[in-house]
Amino acid sequence: MKLTIIGTGYVGLVTGTCFAEVGHHVICVDNDAAKVKMLQAGGIPIYEPGLDELVKKNVASGRLKFTASTAEGVQNSDVIFIAVPTPPQPDGSVDLSYIERVARDIAAAMTSYKIVVDKSTVPVKTGEKVAETIKRYCAAKVEFDVVSNPEFLREGFAVGDLMKPDRIVIGVASPRPAAAMKEIYTPFNAPIIVTDINSAELIKHAANSFLALKISYINAIATVCEAAGANVQEVAQGIGLDERIGRRFLNAGIGFGGSCFPKDLSAFIKIAEQIGYDFKLLKEVQHINADQMDRFVKKITDTLWVLKDKKIGVLGLAFKQNTDDVRSSPAIDLCQKLLKEGAMLRVHDPKAMDKTKALLPNVTYVDDLNAVAEGCDAIVIATEWDEFKQLDLARAKKSLTHPIMFDGRNLFDPVEMEKLGWIYKSVGR
Ligand code: UDX
Repeated sequence: MKLTIIGTGYVGLVTGTCFAEVGHHVICVDNDAAKVKMLQAGGIPIYEPGLDELVKKNVASGRLKFTASTAEGVQNSDVIFIAVPTPPQPDGSVDLSYIERVARDIAAAMTSYKIVVDKSTVPVKTGEKVAETIKRYCAAKVEFDVVSNPEFLREGFAVGDLMKPDRIVIGVASPRPAAAMKEIYTPFNAPIIVTDINSAELIKHAANSFLALKISYINAIATVCEAAGANVQEVAQGIGLDERIGRRFLNAGIGFGGSCFPKDLSAFIKIAEQIGYDFKLLKEVQHINADQMDRFVKKITDTLWVLKDKKIGVLGLAFKQNTDDVRSSPAIDLCQKLLKEGAMLRVHDPKAMDKTKALLPNVTYVDDLNAVAEGCDAIVIATEWDEFKQLDLARAKKSLTHPIMFDGRNLFDPVEMEKLGWIYKSVGR
């Protein structure tokens, strides 16, 4: 089918590329002319494993194109996906101005029947507003349908999540667009659920809030484990093997971050409030997440006492592994808290150092993971990168004034670390 994706951020670029990979003809539109130029020249603006090769392959096959013109995309496609940002506003609600702008641009360019699909994460009832807007601004007065088709991809695993989704959610107001949407997704061999538009929009917020809740739950259990002398990883294993619970998203740490969970939780709480429900459960999820960071910082100050003029090596800046994204990163938050206490930081991240430089200008960036500990008083693990498990512990021990590690992601074994002579503090163990 002929598809257009408006917005070439994480969701738009990966979705467009994967649609091309399964045989559709895709035009990716972005209003950032420099980004479009970069993509046309074979550059990729984000780090996402596997994306680079897939973009190259599909551009070469002629199935994937980039343009800065919305009209070109709309006029040459049957289905138009909106994948633009929906950033948070100071009161927690969602800024829908990009969606509204794009809806007007699509409406202005439409000269025949189109299906307009919202892929961005939006509050329930946004579909109704998009339909109203298109109707109002479409001078040609052609027919159209609005669909909600939320995206569930995780950064760092986006290509895999898209090519092998757990499910596809399609929210429609009539049967006509459902058939086209099913055709688009048939090559992905995933269960397809067709719902009304409001339900599809709610599924996205309900899913992300539940995952955030799962993380806060295990972080609360970690606190109880510390007080009781138990091990949160063993507890997670023990409860996670129950199929009704599941082991995934039960890793205790310094809390969740990123561009989705914090924003989606606030938005969902706000939407609930607007329709008359006080979502106290989700407010508590937020509190536990904030406490988790404060408790970790306290662990550091309890051990190192005064942080002023102490040198700390920090491993990890990205909000999680396999990405260079530092938006709402707990690792950055932690660095800022340590800097505020007067500590001096030597930091390393396999992918996110460039994107961090503007946020943390007064730290030392270290390219070699094994050189971070040099001259430091302690080392802190802030992101769950697998490669941190390969840290040369013998060298780090020699480099530090005293072998102290604060592991905010439980990457090492406490018993082993103690045997090796480390003062090792992790989360919930
Ligand atoms: C999330 C959802 O997983 C995805 O389905 C949705 O489409 C977008 O939001 P993402 O933000 O890319 O994806 O990251 P995710 O892998 O969910 O991790 C979010 C945060 O939770 C990270 O900071 C991560 O470190 C943290 N996390 C995750 C934990 O602390 N413990 C866990 O067990 C899992």
